[in-house]
Amino acid sequence: MIVEIGSTMIMAGVAGYSYLKTKGPATNDGEKIQRIFANSGWTVQEDGKMKTVRMRRKRKIEGGTEYVLQLPLGMSSKEIIDKQNVLEDGLNRRSKYIEFDPRDLLQVKWDKTALKQIRKIVTDKKIARKEIEIDFDGMLRIRVYNQPLAKQIDWKGDLLRNGWKVPIGFNRKEMIYHDFDKLYSLIVAGTPGYGKSQYLNMLITTLIIMQPQNVSFSLIDLKEGAEFNKFKDLKQVKRYATEPEEAKNVLEAVQEDMKKVYQDFISKGYSNVKEAGIKKRHFIIIDEGADIAGDQSCIDLLTEIGRKGRAAGFYPVYATQYPTSRSVPIDMKRNIPTRLTFVLDSGTASSNVLDQAGAEDLPMIPGRAIYKNVRCQTVQTPYMSDEQIKVCVKPHITIKGKDDQREQHLDKTESSRKRPLEFEKV
Ligand SMILES: Nc1ncnc2c1ncn2[C@@H]1O[C@H](COP(=O)(O)OP(=O)(O)O)[C@@H](O)[C@H]1O
Ligand SMILES: [Mg+2]
Repeated sequence: MIVEIGSTMIMAGVAGYSYLKTKGPATNDGEKIQRIFANSGWTVQEDGKMKTVRMRRKRKIEGGTEYVLQLPLGMSSKEIIDKQNVLEDGLNRRSKYIEFDPRDLLQVKWDKTALKQIRKIVTDKKIARKEIEIDFDGMLRIRVYNQPLAKQIDWKGDLLRNGWKVPIGFNRKEMIYHDFDKLYSLIVAGTPGYGKSQYLNMLITTLIIMQPQNVSFSLIDLKEGAEFNKFKDLKQVKRYATEPEEAKNVLEAVQEDMKKVYQDFISKGYSNVKEAGIKKRHFIIIDEGADIAGDQSCIDLLTEIGRKGRAAGFYPVYATQYPTSRSVPIDMKRNIPTRLTFVLDSGTASSNVLDQAGAEDLPMIPGRAIYKNVRCQTVQTPYMSDEQIKVCVKPHITIKGKDDQREQHLDKTESSRKRPLEFEKV
């Protein structure tokens, strides 16, 4: 079989498939999607014939429509997913035709202003920017949303859940959670200014509110401590580093701790902390991780923590603004499979984190991100203000001393940690 990806409009034009509506105006999104495939030359040749996608079904989903398409043999879903922006731009092209849903008329109050109201509905439809999500599960699923996702979702106490579930972001329908006891770790990436540190701050604060007695942290903040300074005197913060050399010491100490916990439950015949009924979890949170990526021993330590930490309850969260193959090495990716990516400056950077393009096409909105667990979802991460963080962490500030005093102090105050926090005040 000869398979050849066509790349020109002419090829698609020559193809002239009966199931591709290529003449006359494309008046709805389903037709537009098929037209975009034809015009972009997304076709393959099989046994001398040109083939392209077939629209199989469409269904209403929350806030939009999902189109399910079948790909011909030999067409790569990844290539289409990587060119998501072509589909999005095509669907947003201004045209004199708009899709009118008869249900829109239900909102119209039939008085003398009716015409004005209808005009407004039409204008709103013309200027609304549609957003799309694509994934492939044997069929290509293109979800077209009529309205963009909210630009800000404020953090509130009712986002809190039990166990080790922390909010990731709102996906139009609901808040999605990342359960650290199931998924263990997270890589965070994004161009500066779009929400990485804010997300890490929210994550740390949420964990402290939920599990004040059981959570502890090693915080590595390589931006001169600018981000995690506010947490450094909390009793839950066991180690804190702002320099790459300190970072290495911290990672080595974490590895030692991890081994002890490991040996403890293994010797009692358990295979992990959950089985052993151990409630404590330790989070290793690294902001601006690219600064330690040059030191292979740090990356090796982190990769090892990513691999062994899951059984021992040691969970790494690694954030970087430069997701290159050096700052996010393949071994680390293998051991830290879940990702949260804010907008990135190129498809290559996106591929380094998500293994597919897409993060470069996110709108330039702080907090807008792609969360990849099994599949990718676009979310708006919850925004927690500095003031909220301050109020939440204040009851946990215990020392104003040097770093070396911190560990001794923490050991002595083990029993005093068992003080529940009232987060209703937030
Ligand atoms: N989830 C969010 N919702 C709304 N605004 C946000 C959100 N996250 C970040 N921001 C805004 O973007 C700014 C930069 O975010 P920051 O986390 O410092 O970015 P980064 O660490 O990626 O450089 C913040 O000061 C805040 O004003
Ligand atoms: Mg930052």
